Amino acid sequence: MKFFIDTADLTEIRSLASSGLLDGVTTNPSLIAKSGRKFADVIAEICEIVPGPVSAEVAGTVYDQMMAEAQVLRKIAKNVTIKVPLTPDGLRACRHLSNDGTMVNVTLCFSAAQALLAAKSGASFISPFVGRVDDIGWNGMDLIADIVQIYNNYDFRTEVLVASVRNPIHVIEAAKMGAHVATLPPAVLRSLFSHPLTDKGLAAFLADWAKTGQSIV
Ligand code: E4P
Repeated sequence: MKFFIDTADLTEIRSLASSGLLDGVTTNPSLIAKSGRKFADVIAEICEIVPGPVSAEVAGTVYDQMMAEAQVLRKIAKNVTIKVPLTPDGLRACRHLSNDGTMVNVTLCFSAAQALLAAKSGASFISPFVGRVDDIGWNGMDLIADIVQIYNNYDFRTEVLVASVRNPIHVIEAAKMGAHVATLPPAVLRSLFSHPLTDKGLAAFLADWAKTGQSIV
């Protein structure tokens, strides 16, 4: 399973890239606004830090505008992935960009039917938002299970990119279902390291080691 990080915070990206665990980055207009920086500059810097796919989302809502923005964004770096919303115009742009060999991440997916359309439009990634589905009282992970099953049935090459991840359970459930990618907020990625028995065990080992009076180097 690939791990992307869902942030435009360069300090966080640098810090987590050094872990060797990052396979890519996703951003969205809200995350860019939060960064307080110029969109193109942030994407260029992220692409230098992380060699994997870096999603940059178009702001246009009509096909021509999306395509014009995509031309600008994809020139920033080879690893830019154009992110388009799951709308008729977004999927039309997805089809044309994919035919040109550009990676496309179709975002704001909330149903298996939408995911099927994205795969048929040649998307590299489909982003179902599990946390936001949970927020309205549905089960976000059921959506992932449905999409994985449908994509497997037809050998679609579109990768299931689990988005709007809120906790480690989302990550583990997605991995059990065989989702290709999870994009994680930095706090969720850090939380994957934690277990109280690891902390307790390490404290005991260190205390016993101190009693030996030895040093390894
Ligand atoms: C994915 O690409 C989105 O940027 C993101 O996962 C949305 O998450 P949120 O629902 O926590 O805003």
